[in-house]
Amino acid sequence: MAFLSICGGTRLHGEVVNSGAKNGALPILSACVLVEGTCLIHNCPDIADVRTTLQILSCLGCRIQRQGTSVSVDAHAIHTGKVPGDLAGQMRASILFLGALYARLGQASIARPGGCSLGARPVDLHLQALRGLGAAVEEEEATVSCCREGTDGGFVHFSYPSVGATENAVLAAVGCRHDSILHGCAKEPEIVDLCCFLSACGAEITGAGSETIYIRGGRKLHPAEYTVLPDRMEAVSYLCAAAGCGGEVTIRNTDPSLYQTECSILSLTGCEISKTEDSLTLMAPEQLRPIPLLVTGPYPHLSTDAQPPLMAALLRADGVSRFCETVFESRYSHVGQLQLLGADLACIGRYVRLRGGIPLHGAQLQAEDLRAAAALVIAAMTAEGESTLYGLHHLSRGYVNFPETLCALGAKIELKDQ
Ligand code: EPZ
Repeated sequence: MAFLSICGGTRLHGEVVNSGAKNGALPILSACVLVEGTCLIHNCPDIADVRTTLQILSCLGCRIQRQGTSVSVDAHAIHTGKVPGDLAGQMRASILFLGALYARLGQASIARPGGCSLGARPVDLHLQALRGLGAAVEEEEATVSCCREGTDGGFVHFSYPSVGATENAVLAAVGCRHDSILHGCAKEPEIVDLCCFLSACGAEITGAGSETIYIRGGRKLHPAEYTVLPDRMEAVSYLCAAAGCGGEVTIRNTDPSLYQTECSILSLTGCEISKTEDSLTLMAPEQLRPIPLLVTGPYPHLSTDAQPPLMAALLRADGVSRFCETVFESRYSHVGQLQLLGADLACIGRYVRLRGGIPLHGAQLQAEDLRAAAALVIAAMTAEGESTLYGLHHLSRGYVNFPETLCALGAKIELKDQ
């Protein structure tokens, strides 16, 4: 089984080119199903979740061509609305094919999605949105299905600003014959990017990025060419690595406006951050300052995906920091692993109390989810001696060459197999 051998104690220096966003590419690739023609999507990261999405598209009858980070999707001959379990179960984003196939075919049946184990991760808000748009929805043990009945389009109110449910509702509403209003929406940049792509295909959408999105019904879509936005969580992960290890790292081909909250927090820890329109440089201080309380929340609050790497970085801050995770009910799988390195962490429900500035030592670590994997790499790089990290499939789901990129910045990480 493959694992990483990580030797701590090195500072990081150099440049990283920001990849296209995982959580931007996945909904946009699913949205290609709505277009009876060939869409060309640029800046698609070469990660496992994108490969799985392309497999699903092929399985539906699409013709896929990939050249570097550009993918063409010919969805002219879609012949089924069914997404099988062996593919759907590999990631959370497979649920987005429910809304996309409903829009294109008027019916869809998706095996229940997989993805990071961050708690129950129900799909009730997705199904409630589809019902609000006039779909008949059926839930079974292993699958969720929907089909068009009566008038479609309508009003949806989200009790929580779910990212995926908002994306699913947008996808379904674009294919409806009548207008729709979605209220209580999530405001993540990836939702805005999805709506920009759909608008490039001829959809009429206003309000993306706000809590209320209006979608004109009955619009015929045409093929478009589109470039996915940069991956803000990849950028934040590298910045947390630089903050934790010390040194100076520049992110290129990025958009700093996508992660202002996370940058403000890194500045509060004493990091010096300078920005241009498409790059950002972080210079770490000799000693990080702790942060009394960090609370995650829906965008534009501190992203839940930034919580694990930020926690790893703050292990180097001299003093007590606290976290409150409000988005997922169990997103602290990395806490027990960080304690193996000697970290002083106390987890009480949704809160974690961290006393930083304590020397860490190497340990054998197991990643349980995508951002936890990144956090464990960062923490091991700040520990004395060698650590090993298992569960690398989590990393490859969401990061392009994470260990290799860190090595290019000066980290001592080796991929091994036993
Ligand atoms: C998206 O997941 C992202 N994944 C996650 O990123 C991210 O952490 C999350 O949004 C929050 O920002 C993708 O975009 C592929 P939610 P999603 O629906 O859509 C509850 C990563 O690391 N909820 O906003 O699944 C849910 O249980 C991944 O890249 C319901 O109760 O997140 C959670 O507590 C991890 N019912 C909260 O809402 C529903 O029907 C937020 O979930 C849906 C969600």
